[in-house]
Amino acid sequence: MLESFDGAPSPRLRELLASLVRHLHGFASETRLTEDEWAAGVRILTETGAITDDVRQEFILWSDALGLSMLVDALAHPKSAAATESTVLGPFHTPGAPERGYGESMIGKPAGIPAWVHGRVLDIEGEPVAGAELDVWQNGDNGLYTVQDVEASDDHLRGRFRTRTDGTYAFIGVRPVPYTIPSDGPVGRMLDAAGRHPWRPAHIHLIVSAAGFQTLTTHVFDKASAYLDSDAVFAVKPSLLRTFRPRSADDPSRPAGIEGDWCSVENDVVLDRLPDR
Ligand code: BEZ
Ligand code: FE
Repeated sequence: MLESFDGAPSPRLRELLASLVRHLHGFASETRLTEDEWAAGVRILTETGAITDDVRQEFILWSDALGLSMLVDALAHPKSAAATESTVLGPFHTPGAPERGYGESMIGKPAGIPAWVHGRVLDIEGEPVAGAELDVWQNGDNGLYTVQDVEASDDHLRGRFRTRTDGTYAFIGVRPVPYTIPSDGPVGRMLDAAGRHPWRPAHIHLIVSAAGFQTLTTHVFDKASAYLDSDAVFAVKPSLLRTFRPRSADDPSRPAGIEGDWCSVENDVVLDRLPDR
């Protein structure tokens, strides 16, 4: 059976197909897969295709919920002692977020406790990276991302920010909340059947890019959030936990653009250079 791929012109395709078949057969043999179970598997894949469209990607959700996305991420970005760690992209990023200035708010409608998010983008020697882009998206206190929230404007809780010459960036978002991954489809049914919950701990998403550096897809996790030790998609890395510090309305360092009680979180990001060619 494996020899049937010997004629594939691409050696990599040959390797991938042969290994896939070896592992699929190994899975069926090891579990003594029955015909009914095989048919259930086909049904689940069919349902996964049916629920997938431009805004709902149930195949990626399978990859996330089975820990495959984090494995592929770890293979692509081996842990560097110095650089900020990466984690999953998730399904709620949309390109083309509005470009915003230093310290600008991305809050389009009331969405929870305002958060002053600030820090520096640095290289692994600790030197500032000027002009780095931070593409940011997050949920509000209704648990929804902008793409899910029919009452939110397109610009709500999304923005692209640039570091200043000293590597600093800042923006106003809100304190994120835990939320459930989409659980009304086949992945949700698997979680239910396995006695697993669909919750993710509170986080803000960042894609940080700069000329000459590897692009980093990561999160800022709220250190005080529930579900840090049981993330439905296994994406928590301890190095990404940050303290969201509560601040009162009369705190003298309250930034312009924030009214009432707020919080602040400091998050430096360290980028790895692109390998020399
Ligand atoms: C997210 O963080 O937005 C996410 C990641 C994986 C699956 C679902 C949601
Ligand atoms: Fe998320």
